[in-house]
Amino acid sequence: MALSSTFWRLNLLSKPSVSHIQTSLRALKPFFNPTPRPISSLPISSFSNSSITKNPTSLESKTRTPYPQDDLVVLGIETSCDDTAAAVVKSNGEILSQVISSQADLLAQYGGVAPKMAEEAHLQVIDQVVQEALDKANLSERDLSAVAVTIGPGLSLCLRVGVRKARKIAGTFSLPIIGVHHMEAHALVARLTEQELQFPFMALLISGGHNVLILARDLGHYVQLGTTIDDAIGEAYDKIAKWLGLDLRRSGGPAIEELAREGDAKSIKLSTPMKQHKDCNFSYAGLKTQVRLAIESKNINATIPVSSATSEDRKSRADIAASFQRVAVLHLEERCERAIEWALKIEPSVKHMVVSGGVASNQYVRARLDQIVTKNNLQLVCPPPSLCTDNGVMVAWTGIENFCMGRFDPPPPADEPEDIEFDLRPRWPLGEEYAEGRSEARSMRTARIHPSLTSLVQASLQQQL
Ligand code: KG4
Ligand code: ZN
Repeated sequence: MALSSTFWRLNLLSKPSVSHIQTSLRALKPFFNPTPRPISSLPISSFSNSSITKNPTSLESKTRTPYPQDDLVVLGIETSCDDTAAAVVKSNGEILSQVISSQADLLAQYGGVAPKMAEEAHLQVIDQVVQEALDKANLSERDLSAVAVTIGPGLSLCLRVGVRKARKIAGTFSLPIIGVHHMEAHALVARLTEQELQFPFMALLISGGHNVLILARDLGHYVQLGTTIDDAIGEAYDKIAKWLGLDLRRSGGPAIEELAREGDAKSIKLSTPMKQHKDCNFSYAGLKTQVRLAIESKNINATIPVSSATSEDRKSRADIAASFQRVAVLHLEERCERAIEWALKIEPSVKHMVVSGGVASNQYVRARLDQIVTKNNLQLVCPPPSLCTDNGVMVAWTGIENFCMGRFDPPPPADEPEDIEFDLRPRWPLGEEYAEGRSEARSMRTARIHPSLTSLVQASLQQQL
């Protein structure tokens, strides 16, 4: 499996993001307790089996004397799904390295993520990916201020690989560790690339496993305005790409986006999901079925790759791809428009809408959402495509933001057993549902394993009062 590195010593910001740091410092004051306190009281990133502090000295001194905030260097590790990613990022927003090993071949072979295979693939490359991230940053573990790692949501088997690696490094080098929420990371990475982006802001997070609309009121304080009642949009792109016989090696989304450019987006009549539900939730299962029926009616044979199809057959596939994309994105547009109304009722000072997650790397999606957001007097913020899909930079950056607020765990013991059970959070909502957004369809399937990130952070802040 080839390792690819898209960034190395690339400073995405023209000048250091002083405003970020100032904001963090300002926000830090009410919460930061200069006297040492048990870090186990910070549930955001605690691991159930982390022994509280076998190694207290380094942590206490770090807690008493905050790091110079523009001097943090954090390693971020991401293994929640099918990408093994690591990056080293500084708190001034400089990306020192970024390495991603994707399981594209496995994805193409199985037509989706098979957890056991994905775990194996992560295990094969995790050491190499992390080492390469450190090498490219010209650093060793000793130069790090902390390690950040995704602890959920995602596939347990996959999350465990990254968490074990992160804890090994943190334990060996006595580094604090930050457990990161994958979707918070997708949203916050926009604050690394866009210096203007202050709380509160809105975010539409669209990926293979998630489809959420949130109002980010503050760090760790998110209101969920809408989510999917069945599939996420990325999952629909992937399935339809498979049914159309497209090349899945770069995942289904880019394949559909490319083919759709050749098609007539109005040629196939598809109805927009959930028109009758006046909320901000999403549904893509029905649209998938409509598209499957259209594919069947055109007698498309997916075993013939599109590259070998006749020009007539290729045109049919392109029409379906374009029609699907138009309606899938129309559904996003409609929900965003209503969500903006709701968000402005809660926080009239909202100025930005972030669109992030793998599907946000799609140019058509970006252009359509830009129109809606601008029409409603907000500004769209889309991270560059390489930071929209899963990556280690977003994890490192979210680690930095949380670290600055004192939300981290102590170094794990250096001799932590390999088979220890970690606190992984495969199903972990980001925020509490907005009351108006609760739909019956949605409440049928809210078997949550973990309390939301927001409720954990708010409970922790209450304790500190
Ligand atoms: O955020 P991400 O990398 O991983 C998850 O957290 O799921 O998102 C992956 C999803 C896949 O479903 C992939 O098909 C989709 O993002 N995707 C795209 C594009 N690039 C990636 N979908 C539409 N257009 C794209 N250009
Ligand atoms: Zn993701």
